[in-house]
Order: sequence, then structure tokens, then C-alpha cells
Amino acid sequence: MSFLSDALARVQPSPTIAITQTARERAAAGRDVISLSAGEPDFDTPDHVKDAAIAAIRDGRTKYTAPDGIPELKDAICAKFRRENGLDYTPAQVSVGSGGKQVLFNALIATLNPGDEVIVPAPYWVSYPDIVRLGGGTPVIVPAGIETGFKLTAEALEAAITPRTKWFLFNSPSNPTGAGYSRSELRALTDVLMRHPHVWVLSDDIYEHLAFDGFAFVTPAQVEPGLKDRTLTLNGVSKAYAMTGWRIGYAGGPEPLIAAMRKLQSQSTTNPCSISQWAALAALEGDQSFLADRAAAFRERRDMVVARLNACAGVICPVPEGAFYVYPDISGCIGKTSAGGRRIERDEDFCTALLEEHDVAVVFGAAFGLSPHFRVSYAASDEMLTQACDRIEAFCAGLT
Ligand SMILES: Cc1ncc(COP(=O)(O)O)c(C=O)c1O
Repeated sequence: MSFLSDALARVQPSPTIAITQTARERAAAGRDVISLSAGEPDFDTPDHVKDAAIAAIRDGRTKYTAPDGIPELKDAICAKFRRENGLDYTPAQVSVGSGGKQVLFNALIATLNPGDEVIVPAPYWVSYPDIVRLGGGTPVIVPAGIETGFKLTAEALEAAITPRTKWFLFNSPSNPTGAGYSRSELRALTDVLMRHPHVWVLSDDIYEHLAFDGFAFVTPAQVEPGLKDRTLTLNGVSKAYAMTGWRIGYAGGPEPLIAAMRKLQSQSTTNPCSISQWAALAALEGDQSFLADRAAAFRERRDMVVARLNACAGVICPVPEGAFYVYPDISGCIGKTSAGGRRIERDEDFCTALLEEHDVAVVFGAAFGLSPHFRVSYAASDEMLTQACDRIEAFCAGLT
């Protein structure tokens, strides 16, 4: 009899966290490492949010709360959904968890049974397939490659749906590509979903506020209100408000699903951190104008990184609509040998050689289910990005 559960054997540790850790260890050993592997903004949490958290501590808001969120925060989330997405949710249709990841985890674990299929377009955020597997479901990976701008087509979605499909996981703007679906691109998908009433939609909108060049963010339940009673609209404060460490995510959805998620959460983390909830309330209710300033800063970095990567031999880097990632194609580097003598058979070899020979940490495409690519998180200072691009260019120039 195995001590560890079979469910755990079905999942891998997060490769992005593993690479970030390796980069940290190399830096601790004295190497001049530039890590572009982590998915978090380099900006600081805004002061008014920090002040709200300090006030919450001083006011003694330091006890257990309702399992899926304090009423004040739920009200603010309902107001946010109305204001920014045109969606009407009641507080009973809202769940707050310890990060978007826990909310996603709750939704999948609360609903999946063996044999249930979950459609996951690739490249995907690394956690999607593993959480599905942990829940006993089967991820159905559907490629959405560079030729369609990393966006799933209606035909590919239609072909992936079976009588066993329980969820369709949708993420725009996306991690790892930054691709964002326009209203008409999303409409093509919602039209397919309307023909399959047994399929639920989980829309991960966590990068909503990181969109560029006038890209108009839309979410499935907004584009097709007919889907709202089988859609979970997921969001959080981590990325938009630079609050990754505070661990607050939330979702709006049908009440029975929210109740099932609450039941699960009440038996795991009990409630999200009380202090972080008051901080998230300040984020959602406070000044929003800095969001546009930060998005503009990210846009400048995106433009710089895309231009620099496209100048590297063997690299093709599309221009994404949002998030803070680019996902260049490196087909032109495969089959070559690095200046340090490493053979580049797969994108993982490319990233390992780049780290070992030039001390730049990026994440290989296979971790996200679509190769040969690598992901750059450009949530770093201009100086670091310039240096990293210099090193990547030198590395590519050395491939023979
Ligand atoms: C696509 C996507 N969804 C959800 C999350 C979860 O974010 P958090 O748990 O910090 O709210 C992340 C974080 O990297 C992400 O990239």
C-alpha cells in the first residue's frame, strides 16, 4: 500500500515555481541571474491598500470570517462585476478564496467525477490540467497555436466537446501567451457553447486589467448572457493590484456551485485571511486610475521585448494583446548546438542552456503544453529586460 495518495501521483509540482526556485538558488550562490520566470507584477501593492490592512489589524479584524468572504468584500465584488463587466451577481453568488488558484481549485474539485472531461486550450496556465487530474477528471488539451494567434477556434472547440465534457476552461488575456479574445472571437466560441447546454464555462479573467492598444476586455457571460447560469467568472486582486502575496481571488457564479465551493473551503482553509480581505476591499473600492498607468508601463516593456526577441536568430515573437508575457516560437533554434556545447533538441534544452550559459531564467513551452516555445514574463525593470534580451540575443547568435 502506498503512503501517498493516487491522486497526488497524477500531478506534477508547478514547473514555473521550480524554475523560479532554481534561479533563486543560482543567485544565492553568487551568480548574476536575471529571472523572467515568475508570473507576478514587479510593482508594489498600492499604499492605500497597505494602509487598509494595517487599519484592519489595529481594529481587531483578525478573527475567522464567513468561509467564502466578508459581506463588505462580497458587496464590492458585486459592484465590480456590475461596473466593469456588466454582470449582475448577488453576494450569495460570489465566492472569495485564498487566491484565484484556490477558487479554481474549489470549483473543479467540487464538481469533477471520474470520467468527466475538461477542455483546456494549449498553451495553458500550468495549474489547469493538474488541478483537473487531482479532481479525478480528464484534461482534454486542444492546441491553439501561433497560426491562430494562440486562440482557440470555434471548429476546434466544437470538435473537442463530447457527452462527457463538464467544463471549458477559458483564459483571456492568457498566461502564457498574453493573447486576448476580441468580442467577435469570443462570440464564435459562445455560439458553440450555446449548442451544448451540458458544458459549463470557467472564465479566468485574472489579467483583465492588463490589456493594451485599446483592447476591449470581454468575458463569456457578458458576451452571451444565455451562458451565465452555467458560467463561473473568476478574477482576483493578485495581478491587477500587485497583491500576489495577499492571496485573494474571487468568482461569481450560480448559487448551487458557489455553495458547493463554500462547503469545500470550510473544510480546508476555513476562510481567506481576514486582513487580506479588508485590503482587497480597499483595492476594489479605491482609486482605479493607476491601473491604466501600470498597463501603459507594461505595454512599453512588451513592445521593447517583442522587438528585441524578433531580432534574435531563430526566434519569432508575436505581439500579444495583454497580460505580461510573451511566448516566442523557437522552431528555428531546434536541432542546433549552443556555444557551450549543449544540443537543443527541445524547448526545455533551450531554457536549460540559456540559464546555465547566460544566467537568464525563462520557462520552456512544454510546461504549458505547446512546443517549441518559451515564456518570458516581462514584469521586470527596463534595465533587467534590456540585459536579459542582450543575453538571449547572444545565446541565439551562438547557436550553430
Ligand atoms: C491564468 C492564471 N489564473 C489564475 C492565477 C492565480 O492567481 P492567484 O492565485 O495569485 O490569484 C494565475 C497566477 O499565476 C494565472 O496565471
